[in-house]
Amino acid sequence: MHAPMKKLFIKTYGCQMNVYDSARMADLLAPLGYAPADAPDDADMVILNTCHIREKAAEKVYSELGKLKRLKERKAETGAPMLIAVAGCVAQAEGEEIVARQSAVDIVVGPQSYHRLPELIAQVTRNAGHALETDFPAEDKFDSLPEEMGVQGPAAFLTVQEGCDKFCTFCVVPYTRGSEYSRSVAQIEAEARRLAEKGVREITLLGQNVNAYRGQGLDGEEWSLAKLLYRLAEIDGLDRLRYTTSHPRDMRDDLIQAHAELDKLMPYLHLPVQAGSDRVLAAMNRQHTAADYLRLAERIRAANPDLALSSDFIVGFPGETDKDFEATLVLVREVKYAQAFSFKYSPRPGTSASTAKQLPEDVKDARLQELQALLSKQQAEFNASCEGRMMDVLFEKPGRKAGQAVGRSPFLQPVHAENAEHLIGEIRKVRIAEVQPNSLKGVFERQMVDAL
Ligand code: 5AD
Ligand code: SF4
Repeated sequence: MHAPMKKLFIKTYGCQMNVYDSARMADLLAPLGYAPADAPDDADMVILNTCHIREKAAEKVYSELGKLKRLKERKAETGAPMLIAVAGCVAQAEGEEIVARQSAVDIVVGPQSYHRLPELIAQVTRNAGHALETDFPAEDKFDSLPEEMGVQGPAAFLTVQEGCDKFCTFCVVPYTRGSEYSRSVAQIEAEARRLAEKGVREITLLGQNVNAYRGQGLDGEEWSLAKLLYRLAEIDGLDRLRYTTSHPRDMRDDLIQAHAELDKLMPYLHLPVQAGSDRVLAAMNRQHTAADYLRLAERIRAANPDLALSSDFIVGFPGETDKDFEATLVLVREVKYAQAFSFKYSPRPGTSASTAKQLPEDVKDARLQELQALLSKQQAEFNASCEGRMMDVLFEKPGRKAGQAVGRSPFLQPVHAENAEHLIGEIRKVRIAEVQPNSLKGVFERQMVDAL
């Protein structure tokens, strides 16, 4: 028997893991009769899958909830009830405070508990009260989730690890996602095989601290991320593997070696350093120095000289002097990044750096501008160095112009090509003919036979 048709709208904020979680929530609620809605207006249930990493994250969620409350009231007048759920890291961090501040919210569910959504919905509809679930249950969420259903495109995410034990002093993740947990190799492999059967050609393994992965292996022993990657590389049809986000302290020898040996492992690594001054790195509790990081980058590039590095940076951490900031610029010049993300420090309640004296906003602004100018220049240089190169592109979706398709290079750059729409889902070699501000233009070389 089919459940009556209902519509679900999920708004996803933040990281790729939230994107993955939102897809799994949709899978979980499909058997209850929930099909995707295009907008909150047509939805019987709206889930805000929130992120707590950016500044004023909770305030933004409350303002969004204010709008949803008005929508819920309007819909109630027409006799159409609507459920509102807050999921993700803001749900975890704020907990009961959410229903206290916004009574229109029906369900608050943390990132480790969303497999209980069907139960929470039943609880709310039966009792017409609120339901709150933000404990970190010992039971394995992943065991309780249904098999993934909707696959969107040939490049997919797969969560292999969650949580973080590093406690960088600026970061909320250890509080919102809890301590490190790794899924078993068998479970991950089964999910990867199912994705490959559905036409997925590239999988990005996700984890807040993914290279700290140590899951139960097929032999019952603990397997490292490298060992997991070697295993997944054996899956036919799966041609590309990536992983993110890594901590420098957890880049072990076997993982570096995998970058030398595994053809399917893409030559791109997001390896956040955050800052270049040892004093600041220590205050951030990063547990490595700038020299450690530079040595590591050198070893990774020795394993694969053609690897693109990416990073996250925070400027204006409490106590950062001009000299400290200069050390960040020195490190960036040394490493040469292909891509990077940079942020002004902003305090997150509950983290240990949050009570320290803040630097003036104009100092933070000026530093961010200077760093971003340098990083943009490096990105442009990296892209320019690709002109004329032959690259494999996995075409993922149609482009803006008719017939065009857009995909990713091995270095994660967007590449577009004409007359390529029929190639979506496939990997093809193109020559990079032009480097444009936001993407590269690829052209198909004429086959040798044509030239004869
Ligand atoms: N302030 C500024 N940036 C932050 N990040 C995490 N916490 C903060 C904060 N309190 C940045 C880090 C991290 C990225 C995901 O977000 O650079 O790597
Ligand atoms: Fe946050 Fe990453 Fe540090 Fe963990 S390693 S505390 S997720 S910044």
